[in-house]
Amino acid sequence: MQRGKLITFEGIDGVGKSTQAAVLESFLLRQGIDVKRTCEPGGVPVGEKIRQILLHEKEDLSNLAELLLFFAARAEHVHRVVRPALEQGQWVICDRFIDASYAYQGGGRKIKSGWIDTLVKWVASDLSPDLTILLNLPSEHIHDRIPSNQHDMFRASVSDKIPDNFESEEKPFFERVRNVYLKRAEQEPGRIEVIDASPDKETVSGEIIALVKKRWPETDNE
Ligand code: TYD
Repeated sequence: MQRGKLITFEGIDGVGKSTQAAVLESFLLRQGIDVKRTCEPGGVPVGEKIRQILLHEKEDLSNLAELLLFFAARAEHVHRVVRPALEQGQWVICDRFIDASYAYQGGGRKIKSGWIDTLVKWVASDLSPDLTILLNLPSEHIHDRIPSNQHDMFRASVSDKIPDNFESEEKPFFERVRNVYLKRAEQEPGRIEVIDASPDKETVSGEIIALVKKRWPETDNE
């Protein structure tokens, strides 16, 4: 069985990742590709519980504990969802993955990237995404779209409609997050594609689908 592809969506909060992940999922399904759409933090019951602690119940959590909880959720998600799906030949679309830890915990919270490298080695050394779509917004629009979880089937709870612990951060935090994402894209241009998220949703989807078709011509059947 040929291993499936791992496609991840990244970007700052409210940039439209979940909406675009759903559009890409529908497109791939129409091409007859078996797709598993999932998200981090979450995707498995224990991950959802950790998500709740990280986003809505954080009181005095240290930055290090936060980092470790994200990786605890990721270890479970990778073990139970991502790796099995890929091994069964499914294409996995994941709303946030390892780049988010570098951007938010490394950039936003200023944790040393070497510590994150170590956790990546433990948890997902064999799982570099085949493609990462980084939805980017100009700096001046950073706070315009926060909070915005309304389109997300994975996050329909009432508590997800109010700003969470990250959405309540100030602009400099998101500037740092965005800068790390862009730096990683510069370092890995073959994997990370930067897409301007400021146009309307259809324009952004069109760009994403075009780049998927170009990368994997077998998906170009329409
Ligand atoms: P997410 O639900 O994707 O937020 P949104 O849909 O609002 O974009 O992610 C929740 C928050 O968790 C988000 O603010 C980013 C943060 N996060 C990290 O800080 N580190 C991580 O490794 C991941 C996966 C998410």
